[in-house]
Amino acid sequence: MKLGIRTKLFVLSLSLIALSLGISYGYLRRTLDANLTLRIEQDLQQRLRLVAYTAERAQLVPSDPKRWQETARALSPLCAARVTLLRSDGRPLADSDVEDDGLAGLPNHLGRPEIAEAQQRGYGRSTRQSATLRRRMMYVAMPFRQADGNIGVARLAMPLLDVDQAMAQLHLVLLVAAVLGLGVAVLMSSAAAHLAARSLQKLTDTAHRMARGDLGTRARSEGEDELAVLGRDLDSLADTLSRALAELSRLASLRREFVANASHELRTPLATLLSAVETLRAGAAHDPAATRTFLDIIYRQADRMHALVNDLLDLSRLESKASKLPLGPLPLLEVVRQVVALSLPRAEDRKQRLTLAPQLPPCRVLADRRSLEQVLTNLLDNAIKYCPAGTEIVVSWTVSPKSPPPGAEVTISVADTGPGIAADHLPRLFERFYRIDTGRSRALGGTGLGLAIVRHAVEAMGGQVSVRSTIGQGTTFTFTLQLVEVGTEAAA
Ligand SMILES: Nc1ncnc2c1ncn2[C@@H]1O[C@H](COP(=O)(O)OP(=O)(O)OP(=O)(O)O)[C@@H](O)[C@H]1O
Ligand SMILES: [Mg+2]
Repeated sequence: MKLGIRTKLFVLSLSLIALSLGISYGYLRRTLDANLTLRIEQDLQQRLRLVAYTAERAQLVPSDPKRWQETARALSPLCAARVTLLRSDGRPLADSDVEDDGLAGLPNHLGRPEIAEAQQRGYGRSTRQSATLRRRMMYVAMPFRQADGNIGVARLAMPLLDVDQAMAQLHLVLLVAAVLGLGVAVLMSSAAAHLAARSLQKLTDTAHRMARGDLGTRARSEGEDELAVLGRDLDSLADTLSRALAELSRLASLRREFVANASHELRTPLATLLSAVETLRAGAAHDPAATRTFLDIIYRQADRMHALVNDLLDLSRLESKASKLPLGPLPLLEVVRQVVALSLPRAEDRKQRLTLAPQLPPCRVLADRRSLEQVLTNLLDNAIKYCPAGTEIVVSWTVSPKSPPPGAEVTISVADTGPGIAADHLPRLFERFYRIDTGRSRALGGTGLGLAIVRHAVEAMGGQVSVRSTIGQGTTFTFTLQLVEVGTEAAA
């Protein structure tokens, strides 16, 4: 059977209350009964001493039963209890509650526990149901000396009315308590169940809305209980999901932008190329000078498309995590020298001074040769392309002084004294297709992929890129690589 949370809570609190009532009833009943009985007995014992003393002073002899009976009758109202006086052999000679002619019919009392105990120890007591009076009685008994020297027994009996009344009262009190407790239990548990069920319902509703795709909804639980914690967890789950979704849609729009950019970059040279071919077909092919001009155009555009497609392929190769770059120790000075040597003619064409900083520490770095060459080439290419004649372009590096391998890094810089880049462009500079002056960059054959390739290549080799620039003073691109060892370049 499936019980709702309400019913479960109700049953639980009800059984708790019943249990605590039961335990307190058992405990109260025992202590009350024992206490009251003890008090009554102590009281009765006092009176019994007086009765025994008086019986002794009455000089009773068995031959004068009348006197025994007179004594018992006189004492009974004084001590407010039934008085029985027994001969030494256990036969009752007087009983305040029995008529004179009934005395003879009374049985021998020697077998009664209080009598036997009194004869043995000087005092006896017993509580039991009286056959004659049909109610619980307490009996106390004590020996006394008869006038003939034999030992009789005086006994007092009293109904345990007080105890029974107190018990009845206790029952009543407990009954009332039980009824009240039940009421309180019903109220409390249904209030608690109502509260719990309400916040649970709220959480369920929120979760349902979230499941249907409404990620803006929040439980906004307050308090410290488990349901509140669950509610807050649900909210932060929705936060995380929303952020992930936002990131996904950002990525999707980046991808769309990328496809649009790439198609656009391909379409321009393609259109030029097509129109050159069209012109040739329309008759220009018969003119050798025109043919050369158009073939030049066709070659330049095809070359540009080729470069673009190569850049795109490089980028996607670097982006796909599956193809990890094969990293190995490379002699840094040697690689840099080669790349610089290849770029030098173009720098000289543009009247720029491209140099290596003096006294560079020879070292080996962890890198992929092709990627490292590409990074350096792209950075030098930019410096040459975007800086005017007279610019100084310097390649340098430092080895991080303290941390030993494998933590040690080499920080490589390509610095120029060119026009610089405005600060608002710097954060986006490494994005694909990002160019500061699109027209000028494209005129110079740029597509805006160079720095994106730099960043991806450096990161794929475990390093980081950064750029610092001051308008009018120049730009410095910096990237890090892991250091393998210092000063061993010649050996490599
Ligand atoms: N050293 C530099 N000095 C001034 N501007 C620079 C420098 N390097 C890059 N830039 C600017 O950053 C932009 C992005 O450079 P990036 O190398 O990514 O693309 P690109 O050079 O235009 O094209 P590609 O490198 O794909 O041929 C460039 O268009 C240029 O405006
Ligand atoms: Mg470039």
